[in-house]
Amino acid sequence: MPPPSTSAPDVSRKARQANFRFRCIACGDLSDCASQDFRCARCGDLLEIIYPYWKEAGLEAQNLKSTWRQRRLSQSAVDLSGVWRFRDLLPAIASDDQAITLREGNTPLYELPHCARITGVPRLFAKHQGLNPTGSFKDAGMTVAATFARLAGFRWVACASTGNTSASMAAYAARGNMRSLVLVPEGKISWSKLSQALDYGAVTCQLRTDFDGCLKLLQELVLRAPVYQLNSINPFRLEGQKTLALELLEQLDWQPPDHIIVPGGNLGNSSAIGKALPEMHALGLISSLPKLSVIQAEGANALVRTLREAGGKHLVGVHAETRATAIRIGNPASWKKAAHVLQATGGACEQVTEIEIAQAKAEIGAEGIGCEPASAVTLAGLKKLVQQGFVKREESVVLVLTGNLLKDPDFTMEFHRGDLFKGGGDEGASAALKPLRHPPIVLDATLDAVIRTLEQAEKEQAEE
Ligand code: F0G
Repeated sequence: MPPPSTSAPDVSRKARQANFRFRCIACGDLSDCASQDFRCARCGDLLEIIYPYWKEAGLEAQNLKSTWRQRRLSQSAVDLSGVWRFRDLLPAIASDDQAITLREGNTPLYELPHCARITGVPRLFAKHQGLNPTGSFKDAGMTVAATFARLAGFRWVACASTGNTSASMAAYAARGNMRSLVLVPEGKISWSKLSQALDYGAVTCQLRTDFDGCLKLLQELVLRAPVYQLNSINPFRLEGQKTLALELLEQLDWQPPDHIIVPGGNLGNSSAIGKALPEMHALGLISSLPKLSVIQAEGANALVRTLREAGGKHLVGVHAETRATAIRIGNPASWKKAAHVLQATGGACEQVTEIEIAQAKAEIGAEGIGCEPASAVTLAGLKKLVQQGFVKREESVVLVLTGNLLKDPDFTMEFHRGDLFKGGGDEGASAALKPLRHPPIVLDATLDAVIRTLEQAEKEQAEE
């Protein structure tokens, strides 16, 4: 790959003619360009995208709602996308065919009656982002950021990932005729996610480090080579992920829930949803702000510690360890944005144990929905927030399920076989999860054996 040169593509070439500007989240510096690491030229902090021309454009809530509803009847690719359907609130593209789309978004909002009984919160819903084209919420951001990568003339896109970002990036790069470079921690991501990146044609590097090490290297790489970085530091990603909130509120007929609960890893998603809510409020699309709460795994609890130990003033990084590998992140890049969101919406930040995650995942599975371990922290966290009185039983709650059950089959198999906690400190405590386990049963191929198994299952259920 050639060294960086003045002819390297410019990440923000198109931005200069566009409907948005970049703003630094720390010093407020405004610019029409961003450098390849998407950091403020003055102070080095993260950038966000703002839309100074919305006022002049005369965006009107009722018109927006009816435009978005009408687009659902259209068969054009951008209208079939649950992201680009809301393009009035996204960075503008000159023509619809510039969008690289896999018809992302359009994810269902499910009621969770079983989990509602468990938590004692009757109005409990799940927004299942795991039903996106590559099986995770990343697609909503990737369609926008990949589109802008191609518009800026890049041939190569790259990311550091715990698996889902890489799967999504590789798919959108392939659709957009770009090459993709994936940096993942060796041995610490699920094979399902890795296999997606391989199939979509990414150059996939398993680095002997953790996610944080991969991200650090990527940040240096993009300053040395003409490679467009697609981690959630890239503010175009967050603009796409913002549409989760728009679609959710549309599904709720624009009646805000009291609480939205998301898992926290690199903290891009919480930042994105937390950006959307005040924007929607300012435009008159919603009349109040839901509280946005972030839940982390106890072994990867940098935001929890940052808020509790440093009052949100500086990042308290951790050495991350959790079986919910998607959120195995010790130095979340967007911690400042997420801390601001919690403050602005009045949300909470909690942590949950490995046992609590495994239990919650099985309980969501028992709804016939299923999700990957990182998504299940939301239900586990909700239980804590109810206990603490932060979530009241009469309030409505939406859990954001970020990834598909099939993303991490090893976790699910080990759980049901009873191997997940074997030999570890949690082995004793995990015995309590036995009623939730449904291990496969190997039998002789006889009718008798199957009937006996049915009878046994009936008996066990009656005893529960
Ligand atoms: N849930 C899943 C399934 C994820 O894959 C991730 C992050 C998160 C939650 C946390 O979201 O980082 O926005 O706070 N996965 C990234 C990746 C880091 O590389 O796939 P976040």
